[in-house]
Amino acid sequence: MKYEGLDAAALSTRLRAPRCLALEKVTSTLDIVHELAGEGAPNGTLVLADEQVRGRGRQRRRWHSPKGSGIWMGTLRRPPTPVDGGVLAIRVGLAVVRALDALDVVAQLKWPNDVMVHDRKLAGVLCEARWRGQELSWIAIGIGINVHGPLPEEIARRAIALDEILPGANRLAVLDVLMPWLRDLSDAPTLTEQECAEYSRYDWLRGCHVTEPVAGVVQGLAPDGALLVRTADGVERVVGGGVVTA
Ligand code: BTN
Repeated sequence: MKYEGLDAAALSTRLRAPRCLALEKVTSTLDIVHELAGEGAPNGTLVLADEQVRGRGRQRRRWHSPKGSGIWMGTLRRPPTPVDGGVLAIRVGLAVVRALDALDVVAQLKWPNDVMVHDRKLAGVLCEARWRGQELSWIAIGIGINVHGPLPEEIARRAIALDEILPGANRLAVLDVLMPWLRDLSDAPTLTEQECAEYSRYDWLRGCHVTEPVAGVVQGLAPDGALLVRTADGVERVVGGGVVTA
């Protein structure tokens, strides 16, 4: 199929992906990435879908992915050395905010990896690793970006579509600025000081009071991707899941 007027070969050239699939309807682009990875697809393989019927988010949530209204993408990462999916997801979140920055859209990151604009969620990241015994086989990186509204009433209060802030936004224009950052993702096992500092500039939660899973004030990010929360007993680390703000 054509995706924003381009077929898979043209997308692969334009976005510099070694292999690209543009599909009309899938369960989830992550399912396709895992399938292709199992068949030996190369690092950087990109799957774009116009619609997902079983798009998934973190914590087994459903990801609303109607036809033509967003970027529902999956890309294959074969890190030469094991990298934690959580650390990688933070880097992917940074890649998304940098890309938005290039489009003059000011976005923030809500730990672990929600991309927020005007305090509403614009995009989400889900990284799924597959292991063979102790060995990491691959990571499927899933990114969902709401591009065209209107969003359904039940999510419109907490979510936002890009064309609300960037009229005329188009999926290809976003992919053009996002793909170079994704290609250059580091596979280092922990976040560098520079990455943590960059994250803190975009940090939506920094200074927020949270009540769950611990009560305290968010301090920032640790190099292993954990959220640091100052509680009555000192600084505690929150790993995985999410936090509830007061
Ligand atoms: C989250 O915020 O909970 C993560 C959402 C991730 C959604 C994207 S859409 C493309 C890819 N395929 C999926 O099924 N999920 C991810």
